[in-house]
Amino acid sequence: MKDPKLRVLISASQIQARIQELGAQISSDYPDGNLHLVCILKGACFFMTDLARAMKRDVVLEFMGISSYGKGKTASGEVKVTKDLDVSLENADVLIVEDIVDSGVTLNYLVNLLGQRRPKSLKIAALLDKPERRIRPVQVSYVGFQIPDRFVVGYGLDYAEKYRNLDDLCVLDE
Ligand code: IMP
Ligand code: MG
Repeated sequence: MKDPKLRVLISASQIQARIQELGAQISSDYPDGNLHLVCILKGACFFMTDLARAMKRDVVLEFMGISSYGKGKTASGEVKVTKDLDVSLENADVLIVEDIVDSGVTLNYLVNLLGQRRPKSLKIAALLDKPERRIRPVQVSYVGFQIPDRFVVGYGLDYAEKYRNLDDLCVLDE
């Protein structure tokens, strides 16, 4: 996909190498028990499937739909559950798998929501973190890469539903 507005920030091979490290770390942090990976649709879908395969243990794959952004680049500040989980989280180790932590509004909301469902533990893995943009506190246990305050697309992340299927993570320039 040649597009003059795209500049590679993190290459596919860098992403894959980092995911192998995260998978190994998470596997050793959860040696036993029932581990549920909760993928936040749609942005985290590639990250979750690669992360799950990088883990050396059984995992349960779950999906949840959340919307906090409209079609553009700015947060509406409003979080909505568009698809809820089909299973109970009671007594399960739960790892929320998200593409990016930006303002923190989405994950702050989600941690409160899922925390009420009495999981045994609840942690977050995010491929990307833009710490400069944080307005709500979020504790992220596993971060792939910290990135500067730039709008990025690819490897699951979109701009108006476009660019999700790029292998690399790219900065989208105006
Ligand atoms: P937050 O609630 O502001 O932390 O936003 C998190 C959500 O905003 C992510 O799950 C993404 O869907 C979206 N988002 C934030 N920054 C970017 C970006 O640079 N590119 C694409 N989507 C983004
Ligand atoms: Mg998202």
